[in-house]
Amino acid sequence: MSSVDLFQEWLTSHSARTEAALEVLLDSAQTNPLRLHEAMRYAAQGGGKRIRPLLVYAAGQLGNDQSTSKKIALDAGAVAIECIHAYSLVHDDMPCMDDDDLRRGRPTVHKAYDEATALLVGDALQTRAFEILANAKCGADVRLSMISALASASGSRGMAGGQAIDLESVGKKLDLAGLKQMHAMKTGALLSCAVQLGGIAADLNAIQMTHLQDYSQALGLAFQIVDDVLDATADSQTLGKTAGKDAINDKPTYVTLMGLDYAQKTAQELQETAIASLDSFGSKAQALKDLAFLVVNRGK
Ligand code: IPE
Ligand code: IPE
Ligand code: MG
Ligand code: MG
Ligand code: MG
Repeated sequence: MSSVDLFQEWLTSHSARTEAALEVLLDSAQTNPLRLHEAMRYAAQGGGKRIRPLLVYAAGQLGNDQSTSKKIALDAGAVAIECIHAYSLVHDDMPCMDDDDLRRGRPTVHKAYDEATALLVGDALQTRAFEILANAKCGADVRLSMISALASASGSRGMAGGQAIDLESVGKKLDLAGLKQMHAMKTGALLSCAVQLGGIAADLNAIQMTHLQDYSQALGLAFQIVDDVLDATADSQTLGKTAGKDAINDKPTYVTLMGLDYAQKTAQELQETAIASLDSFGSKAQALKDLAFLVVNRGK
């Protein structure tokens, strides 16, 4: 089988594993209050690329452990981070933030339901993420490390902090360092955390975790640069979200600050940096390398 086919097979099986884990770990739509649980499932299921869970599983492959408790930790990490991500999208789309009507090819949660429900969906998905990690039937040290990593990546020093910088930067011209910082926090923190969760479940040592951090920092920045590029170049149907929204909302992005060519070149360079950081892992890191390529070249 060619390496492209092998990765395709890996993607198919791990995407299916993500959907199955979400189905098991999310509350059913029959749980009371019905409307809230239905809206939570609407937000978390259907249409996402599942990059963060895929990164959890790919990083989890770096260790030697094949135990059931590692598999449980990986599933819990994959679902927990996707819950946080889904919550961040629900709030990001609300009228008080980016005010978007379309997400993953469907009406955003506040459009399909209402604003108060969207607010609560975000709140409840966030706490569900930590409940899933706390209840995972794996070692207590693994659970605690995963909870700690996810909390810092999601909070005011991570995703939520980055979103605050994003909102206060509307109409302003950030410098390149400021833009990098915003991207690293609003998007890079959760992507890095996904890789970290996989590394924790796989019980990697401190040096291995440092290599993973180099990989994920480069990948996290590349991810948001590509998101900025696609916002400016792709159409709404392809994106499943409103194209040209950054320009409409007057957001500083890599494209508005540095131009399209520079943004695309930087994303390619970051992809190379990310892949080179994995050298010491050998062939076990193939899925992480392929994911870096996928992230940077999506939409091409
Ligand atoms: C979109 O993330 C928001 C950003 C952090 C740029 P994704 O592009 O991963 O969105 P889904 O999960 O595939 O819908
Ligand atoms: C979102 O950045 C980052 C989040 C933390 C959700 P964007 O606002 O650019 O994401 P999209 O383009 O709406 O998906
Ligand atoms: Mg935003
Ligand atoms: Mg947005
Ligand atoms: Mg965007």
